[in-house]
Amino acid sequence: MPIPFETAASAVPITFVTKSTWAAIREGLAPAPRQFADHNGFTGKPGACLMLPDADGRVAQVLFGLEEASARSRDPFRAGSLSGLLPAGTYRFANAPHDSRLATLAFALGSYRFGRYRNADAPAAKLVPSDGIDVAAISRIAEAAMLARDLVNTPSNDMGPEELAQAAADVASRFGASFNCVMGEELARGFPLIHAVGMASTRAPRLIDFSWGDPSHSKVTLVGKGVCFDTGGLDLKPSAGMLNMKKDMGGAANVLALAQMVMDAKLKVRLRVLIPAVENAVAGNAFRPLDIFRSRKGLSVEIGNTDAEGRLILADALAYADEEKPELLIDMGTLTGAARVALGPDLPPFYTQDETLAAEVARCAREENDPLWRMPLWAPYDSWLDAKTADITNAPSGTFAGSITCALFLQRFVEHAKSWLHFDIFAWTPQARPGRPEGGECQAARALFRLLGERYA
Ligand code: BES
Ligand code: MN
Ligand code: ZN
Repeated sequence: MPIPFETAASAVPITFVTKSTWAAIREGLAPAPRQFADHNGFTGKPGACLMLPDADGRVAQVLFGLEEASARSRDPFRAGSLSGLLPAGTYRFANAPHDSRLATLAFALGSYRFGRYRNADAPAAKLVPSDGIDVAAISRIAEAAMLARDLVNTPSNDMGPEELAQAAADVASRFGASFNCVMGEELARGFPLIHAVGMASTRAPRLIDFSWGDPSHSKVTLVGKGVCFDTGGLDLKPSAGMLNMKKDMGGAANVLALAQMVMDAKLKVRLRVLIPAVENAVAGNAFRPLDIFRSRKGLSVEIGNTDAEGRLILADALAYADEEKPELLIDMGTLTGAARVALGPDLPPFYTQDETLAAEVARCAREENDPLWRMPLWAPYDSWLDAKTADITNAPSGTFAGSITCALFLQRFVEHAKSWLHFDIFAWTPQARPGRPEGGECQAARALFRLLGERYA
């Protein structure tokens, strides 16, 4: 999807209004538009949009309501609904919203529609970004977010392990990264857990692997859960729980989005991306409850539940990533329903033992309006992972603290990385909000891009 920015000289001004600035802005209007605004009952309520006509009936000016500067909570993406509200045309901000950069980004993110299977009525409003806005930087972020959304929104019949690998290869080749992919039976030796989860599908599992950048730079490795469809396996999900499991490759999609931003911005890192891509399917050869597999790291893993498949494929990929002792190891995946119970769809939890890094992530999340919330790697629960006849189980028997126990499981496979960050994301917007159309969502990648940009510019 094209980014809706333009450089045209003539553009319709959008004036941002709050309840407290409305009186003065109203006074400044000519009598006819002032009457028009009054008759329409415009008072500058957050999200209210009014188009003022000129004498010929064309849109001459737009009024748009924002929260007060002093409001207890403000939506920094509020202006993101403009792209869907405005008729085709070219617009500019006449005054500054609370955060011009985020408002400009929100305008772009709000213009997204998933149009692969029908002519989506994509918004046709374009924005001439204000002076001082780094249009290239915002476009880079918006493009990557739209890539993540497209990948998540594409249904599983067109987004299997092979298509996901192709999408990764496309990103890699665009920036001259070296690409490799281990497939099918080849996985059985080096990556037993990826093989175990993926083997029941007619679409062969694979481990996608690409590297980019100067090998002498700091090693940053990204690992993303690429479950192209999650039936639950033999521990089959009920239909309501299975319905949206095309999005179970949301970790992979967001890792690719982050990688694209990092490479496009030419950050000074040695980047590596690992994506275990599988379909958690049901067949006669599917892995079973209480099967035991020797993982890449050597730990034996007992299958407590075939539906806890994400942590299994990530475990082998993380162990592999960890072998080269990266400075920063980051993984993301749509791993647990428990994370949604704890924090809801819009606030993914993250985990790390690195206190400095945790504070940086929280700050970057705020600054990018890409909300994230730290949860603890609570050591006393670590023993819940004890298995009856193996080193570790993938699914503790109770349902308490499910996102934490998943993080603790993954932590067992990370030993040498200087710092490790884990994100239990949702990758989906259930109900459209400004700048966030309903459907696949980019989560954590924008915040992390800021963090990496600060560290490795
Ligand atoms: N992909 C799901 C988690 C999920 C479900 C994320 C719904 C977002 C929305 C994951 O593979 C899974 O099934 N997790 C299980 C783990 C359990 C069996 C220990 C869960 O959360 O119920
Ligand atoms: Mn599952
Ligand atoms: Zn899953």
